Amino acid sequence: MIKIRLGDKDEKTVLNYSDLVFIKRLLAKMRDPKTRFDGKEFVSKGEDYLFNYVNKNVGSVDEKRRKFLKGLIFGIAAATIAAIIPGVEVIVPPQVAAISGFPKSLLVDSSGNPIKASEIPVNSPYIVLFEYPMTGEPNFLLNLGDSSGKPVEVPPTKVFVPQTGDTYDFPGGVGPNKSIVAYSAICQHLGCTPPYIHFYPPQYVSPSQLAAPEPDQLTAQALLAAKQAKVPALIHCDCHGSTYDPYHGAAVLTGPTQRPLPTVVLEWDSSTDYLYAVGSVGVAIYPEGANGVPSSNPKADLDNSFGSPVGNKTTVQNTQNPFSGS
Ligand code: FES
Repeated sequence: MIKIRLGDKDEKTVLNYSDLVFIKRLLAKMRDPKTRFDGKEFVSKGEDYLFNYVNKNVGSVDEKRRKFLKGLIFGIAAATIAAIIPGVEVIVPPQVAAISGFPKSLLVDSSGNPIKASEIPVNSPYIVLFEYPMTGEPNFLLNLGDSSGKPVEVPPTKVFVPQTGDTYDFPGGVGPNKSIVAYSAICQHLGCTPPYIHFYPPQYVSPSQLAAPEPDQLTAQALLAAKQAKVPALIHCDCHGSTYDPYHGAAVLTGPTQRPLPTVVLEWDSSTDYLYAVGSVGVAIYPEGANGVPSSNPKADLDNSFGSPVGNKTTVQNTQNPFSGS
């Protein structure tokens, strides 16, 4: 699987948004059983096979695209080897240091009206999502507070990536209290999406949760991690127990994930109180699961489909409160 690394602002930009869309289309075709990429052919014929494959399945390969594909050959080869040899997982980023050209998308409600930052409830247990930068890629929208429900300013910080030992810059919260953040809602372990991964507000981060009925599945390990990090709330994935710290760039608190949740960079217009999604920082982008519902094989879910760019508006939805039984 090819990972796309999203870098800090000062990293050299080598990938634009249309290239990202192109990669996603290419990967979708490679995984589609009808257009399956033949790894053995690729190994024996090399880039000629790749160019012909792209020409036939994704679109014509002009000189610019040819150069771009050459830059990706190493990553594609690694992904191909991983597919040929069962049980071998090779994760090698393509030679991409950063990405630019994300759409600037206004966050709107289901009627198309702009979401006002000052009206977003603090510590809401509802799973509040919007798609960005592609349709089908859900992100949490969170207004973080302390355990008494007061908004908490979320400062910029460096986020550590256990998988690589690297760090990247998380820009901090926005809005009137600098308490609003947005993170990918696709677990970076094996891709589970809500309601399997969700935000546990402070009122749910307590040992009593260990005895609560499903889907309240915080583990003792997650509770301990929250205590040690001195954070009142968590993002937790019920699939295998990955836990993320929403107050510090969705950094990893407990595995098995080795990657933080990518951050959606938000912009707040103080004159209108509107919010915009303007970019993304983090390590990987996953596509959504099959029909948005993870199966018993979350890895396969990641292979299924890719969306299209969200454009200049993206709709925020309250999906459910997983703690209410509704
Ligand atoms: S998919 Fe989330 S912990 Fe495994």
